[in-house]
Amino acid sequence: MSNVLDHPAVDRPKVVRIGVLGCGNVGAALIDIVRNRADVVEQRTGIRLEVTRVAVRNISAPRDVEVGEDVLTRDAMGVVTDPDIDLVVESIGGIEPARELILAALAHGKPVVTANKELLANVGAELYAAADEAGRDLLFEAAVAAGIPFVRVLRESLYGEPITRILGIINGTTNYILTKMTDAVDAGGDADYSAALKDAQSLGFAERDPTADVEGYDAGAKAAIIATVAFGKKVVAGDVYHQGISNVTASEIAIARRLGYVVKLLGIVERDPSSDEISVRVHPTMVPDQHPLATVRDSFNAIFVEGDYVDSALFYGRGAGGAPTASAVFGDVIDAAINLRAGTHGSVGALGKATIKPIDETSAEYLLGLDVADQPGVLHAVTGVFAEHGVSIRVAEQEGNGPDARLVFITHVARESDVQATVRELNGLEAVLAVGGLIRVIGN
Ligand code: HSE
Repeated sequence: MSNVLDHPAVDRPKVVRIGVLGCGNVGAALIDIVRNRADVVEQRTGIRLEVTRVAVRNISAPRDVEVGEDVLTRDAMGVVTDPDIDLVVESIGGIEPARELILAALAHGKPVVTANKELLANVGAELYAAADEAGRDLLFEAAVAAGIPFVRVLRESLYGEPITRILGIINGTTNYILTKMTDAVDAGGDADYSAALKDAQSLGFAERDPTADVEGYDAGAKAAIIATVAFGKKVVAGDVYHQGISNVTASEIAIARRLGYVVKLLGIVERDPSSDEISVRVHPTMVPDQHPLATVRDSFNAIFVEGDYVDSALFYGRGAGGAPTASAVFGDVIDAAINLRAGTHGSVGALGKATIKPIDETSAEYLLGLDVADQPGVLHAVTGVFAEHGVSIRVAEQEGNGPDARLVFITHVARESDVQATVRELNGLEAVLAVGGLIRVIGN
């Protein structure tokens, strides 16, 4: 890789010429913000930001912002290698060609700002190392929870904090769907998952193919990035355990509500201080009504951090949308422009190898609902199975009678493998007609 000193064209510019790759929601919103805020930024920093090249796939496609024909190009590689471009914003998404373009931009001495979570959750370590080698910034505030300034908090304010756990509502689509289902349950109505998903799609929160959001992949990519930056270890998307919300039922939400919880899809990043193992998972979770995350409604995101010294801290805002995402990108652009001018750059620091705790070895409280025959001795038989596997029960209730009989349990903190063994054995009991979904519970 070439040395930045080989690129005198980017040395200490007053005008910082930005090349934007992609002009979708985020790219277009960023171009608009740069135009609206360039004067203020210049007054405060002495740096004039100008978008001088925009690479798009189709020059004549309609777009949300006016861009002159002299600025548009189809040649993205030409933009990142152009000596007249000082800084690159990547907003095309996906892994390739984004990876190749970012590596080329850095090799040509240009700082890069990206919102690309899929890219960073898969090959982030390679890109962070390339940025360090080039002595240029690779900033990615918008890749995690978009408008919530959280990456910078991890990279700077909490850099030295022994973080123990981070709980995040980091997908707006699923939070919107679960909020609609919960509101319907609270109103005594029908809380249908498909109807809530359709509603989210008609409002533009959910994609036509909602898999990445509802099955937890989007949140998983963000959780991997959070874990990497929080713990200084290489955590990738493949390390994340996923369970989405497509199987969450109205009846589970109703039980949760009755017991004083709300069901949220959480990204959970945890470090075991005794073994230094890291657990990264995304799954529906029962959050106590009193927990700050329980109040986060609709498509909003929030991230709750727990650390030895900071105790707890909460970050809330818009985790999606062109303008909130571009707001985070713009902050990074200013930061990178200032650093470029000062001849310095930030870094996520050295990344070690992560030891990932398998999901079987994680522990939590669990909610378990069983449809059962309403006969003498059933509760005894069922609780015997819990006892046999060392799973201690914190709450036990019967709902309904006769053919509608249902036993609902919340366990004390138990190991996943013990709970799974309990479920397997319960499935084999004659009196157990069905074992409902397992929902993990977080403590207060
Ligand atoms: N689709 C995501 C969400 C936003 O619903 O939060 C982009 O990561």
